[in-house]
Amino acid sequence: MIRKCLFPVGGYGTRFLPATKALPKEMLPVVNKPLVQYGVEESIEAGLNQIGFVTGRGKRAIADHFDISYELEHQISGSSKEVYLKSIRHVMEEGIFSFTRQKEMKGLGHAILAGETLMGSEPFGVVLADDLCIPDDGFDSVLGQMVKVYKQFRCSVVAVMEVPEDEIHKYGVIEGEAMKDGLYRVKSMVEKPKKEDAPSNLAIIGRYILTPDIFDILRETPPGKGDEIQLTDALMQQAQDGVVMAYRFKGTRFDCGSVEGFVEATNYCFENLYKKGLLT
Ligand code: UTP
Repeated sequence: MIRKCLFPVGGYGTRFLPATKALPKEMLPVVNKPLVQYGVEESIEAGLNQIGFVTGRGKRAIADHFDISYELEHQISGSSKEVYLKSIRHVMEEGIFSFTRQKEMKGLGHAILAGETLMGSEPFGVVLADDLCIPDDGFDSVLGQMVKVYKQFRCSVVAVMEVPEDEIHKYGVIEGEAMKDGLYRVKSMVEKPKKEDAPSNLAIIGRYILTPDIFDILRETPPGKGDEIQLTDALMQQAQDGVVMAYRFKGTRFDCGSVEGFVEATNYCFENLYKKGLLT
């Protein structure tokens, strides 16, 4: 059973400057809800209610968001405005939140390793909150779909999606042996390849299930692309030593780390969730 989920939220969010000068990018609202809350709701829906954040300097608003605001509670209690607190109250009732800091931003792999103290020796989920994932109708949340894959294979699982050739250089890309139902056994992985070097069009997005042996591998992983400790390199090692599965999820993913993706997500959520009263 998986109970824990790690949120690396240490990044600088430079693509959103000046908005992110004093505000964590994970707190930017998609319509009326901060990005990070979408991720936390997805995690809780998947049954992973022990939430660990790897934060950095200037990210205190995230900790405050998942804590009680007595003043606000007191002021709004019993009024018609109470409905606006519904979703965050639910998240705070269901979730258990803990925090640690990544002192230097040395890459996603480095951030995950900083989270070892929170995740311990259990398998755990990872959500990159700047990827907002909406499942297809009738399907579980994307992380929920991945938990099912984990239960079947008991190994690390990465979420993948097909991307056009001219965008493949932005992603970690897998070479996989196709199995049934959108499942691939990973044979190799490469971080941000040139399109002519990409082994497939299957790009890794910001949802993972990791087995805890990843920490020992990350400790030994030297800096890779961009001089950062790359999670992809550690996963590649795990795939070579054992099994890593890739799962083509049923849903839509918005890259809210980019301004274009953020605006697309905002329009989608406004039309499909907010207008239907589903974003309280
Ligand atoms: P990104 O590179 O997309 O995020 O990292 P960023 O650095 O915040 O964005 P830009 O490029 O400056 O606009 C992907 C994810 O990994 C986390 C980020 O917070 C983001 O969720 N991350 C990355 C860390 O937590 N620590 C790191 O050292 C690097």
